[in-house]
Parts: sequence; C-alpha cells; structure tokens
Amino acid sequence: MTLGTARTGAICPKCPHANHLPTSILISINELILGVCLNVIDRSEKPILKALQGVAVQPTPVWLMRQAGRYLPEYREIRSRASDFLSLCFTPALATEVTLQPIRRFDFDAAILFSDILVIPHALGQRVWFVEGEGPRLEPLTSIGSLKLTRIIDALSPVLETVATLRSQLPQSTTLIGFAGAPWTVATYMTAGRGGEDGNAALGLAYRAPRDFQALIDTLVEATAEYLIAQVRAGAEVLQIFESWAGSIPAQSMDDFSVQPIKRIIARVRQSKPDVPVIVFPRGAGAHLARYAGETHANAISIDTNTPLTVARRAVGTKLALQGNLDPVALIQGGEALRNAVRTILHETKDTPHIFNLGHGIRPETPVAHVEEMLRLIRNPSA
Ligand code: CP3
Repeated sequence: MTLGTARTGAICPKCPHANHLPTSILISINELILGVCLNVIDRSEKPILKALQGVAVQPTPVWLMRQAGRYLPEYREIRSRASDFLSLCFTPALATEVTLQPIRRFDFDAAILFSDILVIPHALGQRVWFVEGEGPRLEPLTSIGSLKLTRIIDALSPVLETVATLRSQLPQSTTLIGFAGAPWTVATYMTAGRGGEDGNAALGLAYRAPRDFQALIDTLVEATAEYLIAQVRAGAEVLQIFESWAGSIPAQSMDDFSVQPIKRIIARVRQSKPDVPVIVFPRGAGAHLARYAGETHANAISIDTNTPLTVARRAVGTKLALQGNLDPVALIQGGEALRNAVRTILHETKDTPHIFNLGHGIRPETPVAHVEEMLRLIRNPSA
C-alpha cells in the first residue's frame, strides 16, 4: 500500500491541492501502516515529479527561482544575523530555515536548497565573497591547474548536511530541488571575478587560450557532476542546472560551451542516479532549445521571459516538461498586468506538462501579496 492510496478522498484544510491529508496525519498513518515512512512513499504522487514524468498536472505545480530571498522579511531577519552571505549558505541550521521560509508561507510545490552556484569555485579553492548591494567577487584565477577537485565534497559537506535535514523536515508533497550552475555560467564569474560582465572574460579566454578554457570547463563538469550526485545521495529529488548566462555565448559555440558540458554532467549523474529528473535553465538561448532538449537528456527545460512558451513547446516536442516563464517585473507590478500574464501562461500550457515558475529569479522589491495573488490565480484559475 502506498501513501497515494491513503490520500484519496480527504481534504487538507490548508493545502490547495485536492485530496490531501495534512502532513502530520499522513506521516502518522504511514508510520502506523508501514512502520517506516519516507522511503516507501509513492514519489510519483508529488505534483512536480509527475510533471517531470511528462504528465499534465492540475492545478499546475509551482515554485519560484530565488524563492528564498530578500523579498521575504523573515529572510532579511536571518540574513542580518549571518556575518556574510556564504556563511549563511554554509550554516546548515540557517540555510535549512531560509529554505523552509517560502514553503511555510506559500506552500510551494518545491523547496530549492538554499545555497549559491558560486560555492563550486569556492570549493575548488578560488576565494569568493559577496559585496553588500553589489554582488559576488572572486579572486583572480591565476592558473586552472591550481583548482583542487579532490576537496570539493569535503568543502561542500555543510551544504549536503542542509539537504539531508531539509529532506527530513519538508512536508510530504513538497519536492526538494538541488542545483548547481552550468560550467559556462560559473566560468563567467570565475574568469571575470564578478558578475554582469556579459561573459567577455570567459569568451576572451576561449578565443585566446582554448586549451585552458577547455580545462576549466572540464574541471567544472567533474566538480558539478560530483556535487549533484552528492546532493541526490543526501536527499535531493530533482536537480536544476542554471545556465543563466547562456545568452552571452555566440551561436556557433552554444553546443561546445553549454549543451555538451550540460549533457556530460547529466550523463555522469545518471550513471550513478539513473532516475533523478533534471531541469535545465538556458537563459537567453531561446533559439537553441531544440538542442538542449534533444541532446542533454534533461526532463524539463526552464524557459526565460523572452521566449514564448508555444515556441518553446514546438522546439522541445511533446514529452518534456516546460517550466516558466512569468516576467518577474509583472510579479512586482501586480494587478491586471499580473493577472493577464499568469492567465496567458496557463492558457498556453493547458493540458501539457508544465511547472509554473518565473522566467528569471524573483526580485527583492517583489511584494509578498503579489506572490499570494499569483498562487491564487494558478490554484483556482476559475475564481
Ligand atoms: O532559488 C533559491 O531560493 C535558492 C538559492 C539561490 C541563490 N542563488 C541564493 C542567493 C540560487 C538557486 C542561486 C543561484 C544563482 N546564484 C544564480 C543562478 C540563478 C540566476 O539568478 O540567474 C546566479 C547567477 C548566482 C550568483 C549570484 N548570487 C549573484 C549574481 C548574486 C548577487 C545578486 C543578487 O541577487 O543579490 C548572488 C547572491 C544571492 N544568491 C542572494 C541569494 C538569496 C542574495 C544575497 C543576499 O541575501 O545578500
């Protein structure tokens, strides 16, 4: 007997998904019937896991990129207690708490591990810090050979501890998403020493010293695959690979710099964890979605704000799930703009496998009430 059977027919007073029992009752029933719980739950009952199997789920499952963050007062409170941003990422009790904050408030269908894509360069031995109000800084990368692959899992053990704690604390229906940056995107920060440089430093390296550039990408493929496998071992149920700077790659290099490295990471992860679903977010690469879908063996492609979901669907075929792509500015604006944007997305993705999300991360100035309104529109589309 699976938990799925126990769920049918009862309504959770708090949860908007139909036919749920409250989590505490579910756990007790499960413990009574099965003796042990978490591992015997029918994983396919989680709405996001269903969508990732290619099923059209109603109501559309939803989470938001950067859902744990500065738009939440409770996040700002915890953040003010941590000495710096990376310490927050590396303190399991605090990272667990901020991951859970948006779940408590909004009951999103997924929790995304609270960490950052730049923990990988840090674990490889490149110093990383965050300047208040400006963003990340990294010490100059003097030699690719000095990056130390051997210590990464050790260096990232606090993050893995957070994953394990989260898995034991999350509500039954919430999917735990682990993540990493794609090699190109992480390389843009490692070579420029900061963000927002349009990938020029990484591109410069690729043109000037192609072997060094390839060595950097290869190191990142290795490190990222190992790190993602370790996240799945610790309890992550889905992985997302953020290629946030795909849009800075020249068209003729998209395959070499982004599609192939992501394909290699997913292949490595699947050797060790054959069933883990992977979402790829190639922001700014709308013209290349067919290659990401056809080559990488991802289960879902996350679509940016510029790419119409109907165009994306034609590019990826009927089987993969699409994720996205609400404009973060429409969410800041609220009102009619938000209602129209949400309804358009729901209409364009009707009866197809879809996970509602933003086209990029939520911005700090987003009113919490607008997130609530967005959820109401998604969960009760006819109201
Ligand atoms: O999504 C989540 O809620 C989980 C946590 C998460 C963070 N960063 C926390 C964070 C995730 C998934 C990321 C991914 C990330 N980090 C990306 C890819 C996604 C994207 O937005 O494109 C990138 C490019 C980074 C690198 C990074 N981290 C930058 C450029 C910045 C500064 C800009 C900013 O938004 O502040 C960060 C800092 C960061 N990462 C913050 C958070 C909550 C803000 C830091 C703070 O609280 O002071």
